[in-house]
Amino acid sequence: MRHLIGLLLGTEEDWPTAFEAIMREATDGFDVERVTIEPFNLRDKPRHDVVIDRLAYWYYHPREWLKKIAMMDDVYVLNSPFTFQAMEKHTAYCALMRMGIKVPDTVLVPYKNPLDNARYAYTSARYNRPFDLDEIAESLGYPLVMKPYDGGAWRGVSIVRSPAELHAAYDASGEMLMHLQKAIDGYDAFARSLSIGAETMVMKFQPELPMHSRYAVDHNFLSPQVGDEVVTISRLVNAFFRWEFNSCEVLVKGSDVHPIDYANACPDVALTSLHYYFPWAMKTLVKWTIFCAETGRRPRIDLGTREYFEIEGDYAERLAAYRRLADDYFETERYHEFCATRLPHLDQVVRDWVAGPAFDDLLVDTVRHTYPPGEHERFVEHFRGLMTLWLKEN
Ligand SMILES: Nc1ncnc2c1ncn2[C@@H]1O[C@H](COP(=O)(O)OP(=O)(O)O)[C@@H](O)[C@H]1O
Ligand SMILES: [Mg+2]
Repeated sequence: MRHLIGLLLGTEEDWPTAFEAIMREATDGFDVERVTIEPFNLRDKPRHDVVIDRLAYWYYHPREWLKKIAMMDDVYVLNSPFTFQAMEKHTAYCALMRMGIKVPDTVLVPYKNPLDNARYAYTSARYNRPFDLDEIAESLGYPLVMKPYDGGAWRGVSIVRSPAELHAAYDASGEMLMHLQKAIDGYDAFARSLSIGAETMVMKFQPELPMHSRYAVDHNFLSPQVGDEVVTISRLVNAFFRWEFNSCEVLVKGSDVHPIDYANACPDVALTSLHYYFPWAMKTLVKWTIFCAETGRRPRIDLGTREYFEIEGDYAERLAAYRRLADDYFETERYHEFCATRLPHLDQVVRDWVAGPAFDDLLVDTVRHTYPPGEHERFVEHFRGLMTLWLKEN
């Protein structure tokens, strides 16, 4: 039986090319096709077994197609279109707070500017309570971060260190709905972890640097225990919301792990961002896709929130229990067995591909499309260096 994998794409070219190439080499029995957008009858039968979605967060037509094929036809979709529509950053904060995870204290502040809605003036005159922004800020304690409740890509994020900055940030927020969040000041490490199905890569992230240097190649920047906690939190979020391709940002201070951003429907997997970690991401996406298609893993569009909320105990006990629930959801053990028996050659396939001319063409092409001409040579050498390092270490 052949399996058809659909890629629902926006502007990306780098990782889809990589994915298609590795899929071709990895196994027979799979076709990969880029999904096109066209009218569909709600009773149409889709041809796909698995769809990897990178578009529906922004465009409603493909989003509604994904919901239809998940709801009606059991097509396996990364990520769930239902929860990524409804569960923006705010709801993800609520879920982890309820489960006892150390999300920084956060307040949702009403809109600064009146909404463009004819009834708003009447409603707000009757029901909006006056509030003292300074008092809220003081009770959380400076420094603070003001950022949109559904944020992404650093849109509208400000660090607030004083009442003057607080008011400037709020005035600038306009019709954006804002969280005011306690800042984790002077953190020791920023970890960004990318999870794909049952696997997670925890990477050292340096947000203050330009994009191509943000992911540092550093394998020991967290203690094993903290590293494991980061993995658990990342998998917990994903299992809880049925997300399977997501990144999770945490700030580590001392031995405390504080997640700040972990609802990313379309996590960055650009070759020029991930570089050294790019082959891992592609290999894992291929493995998880094949696992889902060949084992007939059924998509879960229901949420079993109660199971998680019923967990009790101290922090360590709860983490262990969450990890078990997440591993159950992702069938972690079965997945690793499957990869070992069904795809033992995949490491070599990816290695050969990264070492070969097709990957170098992709690298050069991606650099040409990403940077201005004067920078091409420098960046081609930069990324080639990182990939040589990966080949040496793998
Ligand atoms: N509570 C916080 N403490 C310290 N820094 C923060 C906090 N929240 C956000 N930041 C900083 O702001 C950046 C953007 O915030 P984030 O919540 O990740 O928004 P986005 O969804 O736009 O990426 C983070 O990468 C981090 O550098
Ligand atoms: Mg972020």
